[in-house]
Amino acid sequence: MSPSLANRLRIGFAIGFAVLTAMAVIGVARFIQQRQDFEDSIARSYQVEMAARVRLAQGRHPAAARTAIEAQQNRRRQLQDNISTDTRNTALLVAAGLIAGLTGALLLFSGLIASMRRPLEELVDAAGRLAEGDRSARVKVGGLSETATLGAAFNEMADELEREASQRDRLDRMKDEFVLTASHELRSPLTSVQGFAELLMLEREKLSPKQAETVEIILDNSRHLVRLLNDLLDLARSDAGRLTIKPVPTEVAPLIEDAVRTMRAQTEAAGQTLSQETQADLPLVDIEPDRVRQVLVNLLTNAHEYCPEGASIRVTAAPIDAGVEIAVSDDGPGIPEDQMEHIFDRFTRGDAGLTQRVGGTGLGLAISKSLVELHGGTIGVASTPGEGSTFRVRLPASTARGTTDPNRQATEAH
Ligand SMILES: Nc1ncnc2c1ncn2[C@@H]1O[C@H](COP(=O)(O)OP(=O)(O)OP(=O)(O)O)[C@@H](O)[C@H]1O
Ligand SMILES: [Mg+2]
Repeated sequence: MSPSLANRLRIGFAIGFAVLTAMAVIGVARFIQQRQDFEDSIARSYQVEMAARVRLAQGRHPAAARTAIEAQQNRRRQLQDNISTDTRNTALLVAAGLIAGLTGALLLFSGLIASMRRPLEELVDAAGRLAEGDRSARVKVGGLSETATLGAAFNEMADELEREASQRDRLDRMKDEFVLTASHELRSPLTSVQGFAELLMLEREKLSPKQAETVEIILDNSRHLVRLLNDLLDLARSDAGRLTIKPVPTEVAPLIEDAVRTMRAQTEAAGQTLSQETQADLPLVDIEPDRVRQVLVNLLTNAHEYCPEGASIRVTAAPIDAGVEIAVSDDGPGIPEDQMEHIFDRFTRGDAGLTQRVGGTGLGLAISKSLVELHGGTIGVASTPGEGSTFRVRLPASTARGTTDPNRQATEAH
C-alpha cells in the first residue's frame, strides 16, 4: 500500500516539531546551565576575595592578600567575557538549529509537492489524450496513495469508455451490415417491379385509364424506393469503408454536359433555365466519372426541385489552385442560416421553399459529400435566403499530365 500524502504530512510535521522543540529545549537548558555556572563562579570569586580582604585587614600576608584580590577581580572580568561569548554562541547555535529545521521542513514540503506533481501532470496529459479520442490513454498507478487512487479510477474509467466504444463500434458494424444486406436484398425484387411497371407502361394503350394511372403510381413509387435503397446502400458501404472508387483521369466539361443533359427535360418542364459554363483550360481530374455525375445530378435535382417555376440554374467549372471547382447555383429560395451547418447530415431536410412539397429523404447531400471526400475533394454551400444557393465541389487535379482541349470554348446552353 502506498503511503498517503496525509500520513507523510503527519510524519513530516511530527519530525519537524520534535527537531524544533529539541533545539529550543537544548538551547534554553544550555543557556540556564551557563548562567548557573557563571553565577557560581562569580560567588566563589567574591568569597575568595572577601577572605583575602579579611586577611589584608588583619595584616596577615598583606602582599599575598592584595595579589589574591586582584586575581579575583581579573577572574570575574574573565568570567564576564566568557559568559557573553557563551550566550552568543548558544543563541547562534539555537538559531542555526531552527534554520536547519525550517529548511528541512521546506525541503520536505517541496519533495511532497514534486511527488504529487508528476502523477498529476501524467493524469492531465492522459485525460487530454482520452478527450482527443485516444482510447488507449492510461496512467501508471503508483506514488502517493491519493494519486494512486486517482490514477486507478482514471484507468478504470478509460477501460469502461473503451469497452463502451468498442461495443458501439460493434453495434455500428452490425447496423451497417444490416442496412447493407436489407437494401441489397430489397433492391432486386423492387427493380423487377419497376421493370415490369415500365413494360406495362410501354403498352399503355392496352390499359384502361384507371389501370394506366395505377401502373404509373406503381412506377413512381418503385423508382423512388429503388433510389432510396441505392442511397442507403451507398451510405452503408461508405460507413463500412466499402464504398470505393476507381479514379481515372477525366475531363470535367463532358461530365457536366452529361449531367445537364440528364436534367434538361425536367427543368424545361418546370420552365426553369439550365445553363452551363466551363472554362477552357480546365485540368484533368482523377475521378470515377459515374460517381461525380451522381453528385452533379443530386445537386441539379435539388436545385430543380427546391426552386420555383421559371428559376434559373447554372453550372460553372473553373480551375483553382490544385484542381477544378464546379459550382451549381440557383436563384431559388436559398437555405436558412440555421440549417446550413446540418445540410450535409443524413436525413436532414429543410423547411425552405418547396421542401415540404417535394418528397425526399434527406440523403442526397450526405451521399454527395461522402463521394466527393472519397475523391479527395471538398463540397460546400453558400446561400442567401430569398436569393439562391451555390454548391461548390472542389476536385483535385489529376497527377497525369494534360488539360482539356484548349480550343473548347465556353459554352452556354439553355
Ligand atoms: N438548391 C437548394 N435550394 C434550397 N434548399 C436546398 C437546396 N438543396 C438542398 N436544399 C435543402 O437541403 C435539404 C437536404 O437536401 P438533400 O439532397 O440531402 O435531401 P433531399 O433532397 O431532401 O432528399 P433526397 O435524399 O431525395 O435528395 C433539402 O431537404 C432542402 O431543404
Ligand atoms: Mg436531394
